[in-house]
Amino acid sequence: EVVPEMDPTSFGFRRLDDAIQVNHRVAEGYTVQTLLRWGDGVLADAPPFDPFQQSPEAQSKQFGYNNDFVTYMPLPVGSHNPNHGLLCVNHEYTDAAMMFPKAQRASESPEDLKRMVETEQAAHGHSVVEIRRQGPGAAWQVVKRSRYNRRITAWQSKLQIRGPAAGHADLRTLDDPTGTVCVGTLNNCAGGTTPWGTVLLGEENINAYFGGNPARTTEPQRYTSMGIQGRPSYRWHEVQPRFDIEQNPNEPNRFGWVVEVDPYDPTARPVKRTALGRFKHEGATSVVLPDGRVAIYSGDDSAGEFLYRFVTQERWNPNARAANRDLLDQGSLSVAQFSEEGFVRWIPLEHGQRGLDASQGFASQADVLIQTRRAARVVGATPLDRPEDVQVNPISGRLYVALTNHTQRQQADGANPRAPNPYGHILELTPPMGEGVEHGAERFLWNILLLGGPLDEASGSAYNAYVETFGNWLAAPDNFAFDRQGRMWIATDQGGAQLKRGHADGLFACDLQGMGRALPKRFFSCPVGAEMCGPAFTPDDTSLFLAVQHPGEVKGSSFENPASRWPDFAAPLPPRPAVVVVTHKQGKVIGG
Ligand code: FEO
Ligand code: CA
Ligand code: CA
Ligand code: CA
Repeated sequence: EVVPEMDPTSFGFRRLDDAIQVNHRVAEGYTVQTLLRWGDGVLADAPPFDPFQQSPEAQSKQFGYNNDFVTYMPLPVGSHNPNHGLLCVNHEYTDAAMMFPKAQRASESPEDLKRMVETEQAAHGHSVVEIRRQGPGAAWQVVKRSRYNRRITAWQSKLQIRGPAAGHADLRTLDDPTGTVCVGTLNNCAGGTTPWGTVLLGEENINAYFGGNPARTTEPQRYTSMGIQGRPSYRWHEVQPRFDIEQNPNEPNRFGWVVEVDPYDPTARPVKRTALGRFKHEGATSVVLPDGRVAIYSGDDSAGEFLYRFVTQERWNPNARAANRDLLDQGSLSVAQFSEEGFVRWIPLEHGQRGLDASQGFASQADVLIQTRRAARVVGATPLDRPEDVQVNPISGRLYVALTNHTQRQQADGANPRAPNPYGHILELTPPMGEGVEHGAERFLWNILLLGGPLDEASGSAYNAYVETFGNWLAAPDNFAFDRQGRMWIATDQGGAQLKRGHADGLFACDLQGMGRALPKRFFSCPVGAEMCGPAFTPDDTSLFLAVQHPGEVKGSSFENPASRWPDFAAPLPPRPAVVVVTHKQGKVIGG
């Protein structure tokens, strides 16, 4: 066999090796600027970061914890300005051991517990931050007194609930008898944007927040099907009864939705869009259909859960932004069934059809949307290996789905070809190509882009034949971004397996066409313990925003004893989740 002498990929950088270090690393020729860290000021009157004196009042004005989804929204709205925009960032979760000093997290005083819980809630949610630079190659600056800067939290933010399930009896609580206004948004993992310039946040692992015993409720399956087992990761239910399902059985029904935020209007209430269904939304990715309607794809990130698509009933209006305000409240939700022959079929989740009726306990479309997972099983959707991010290639129109792993899978099938699957894989879906790319079609084709894992036979990995010479293996693909050339940038999240494998999480560049197809090259490595989130480019591809989540967090680590104190490295300061921005030293396009 003839190995090419030259790197067959389109990327002009030299790959990094896979070693884990206490600091981040980026390919030669690039610079990393730390832009926003946990605790940095977002609102003009935010106090300075002091991890030894945390409070919900301070935290709700500061950048939140564990940044995940990142997107850059140009200013003014509708422009492609690469030098001035709003950085919109999710804060997925908190980890008390890493976030609080021991005196605070171990205190049993009710006042201290309440303060800790409320600080955690204020560290969740979303940040909108105005940023600008002089031009490609120049450093980015946070605009401190911006009228756009905003924190949305799980502490005091009020969100509207809209769509077919809004006001349903299952969404009503003592605090909100209307079932239409919810305090907070939880576990905002990945997300997306809409053509009209709003941001979508996926509410993912909402089970972690709820205490109480499902067995002592009237319908335990309602909770257990969403992973609520009465073993919360947090102590919120001890302080606030709304997080105790025995006292407030409907509160969990108000989470697990896609949230729409208008970053250009700081006074606009975020909205939970129930038409898109309730499950553990990794994110939400939009694409415009040839006829002007809009499709939103979303993965449900649990082992053996499903891939969904929502299509709006109406077309979007490019000429009047406000006309699209409630476009996501009406449309059709469907779920993917993968055949062994390579077809994807999108099955509508429509009340009254395919068994979704009273015989299965669905009295209305609202019931179908509140219990989406159960409805998807009834219609015969294909269980997948933890669907994380879904992204549409802007050049080819193909859809890519990260299946991050499924360590307990018993039986392999076409779209999930390994059992167990500890390394994850990436599916490539092809909609019919007619006048345009038909993202609303009933049938797509599917194939596998790559199977993750080390370059040995035992792992069952599959990449470009020249990966060993020119690239890197990867595991646990999680988030994707595409550059303007339609090349894929893959972020990974191995969790605890990172240390066992000695393989840093990070960002990998990957061609989808030509000689370099399916040949990942490592561009960025996270510091030890962190997973890679984001990624997001400016519209000119000269800046790349990356979210480093849970740096220094390994088994047994803590605030006092982290595996890394990234990015400040200033003991006794703990590590700080942060968004960094990568630029080429000469201001060129990222990746060449
Ligand atoms: Fe929050 Fe699916 O990762
Ligand atoms: Ca995460
Ligand atoms: Ca994720
Ligand atoms: Ca993940």
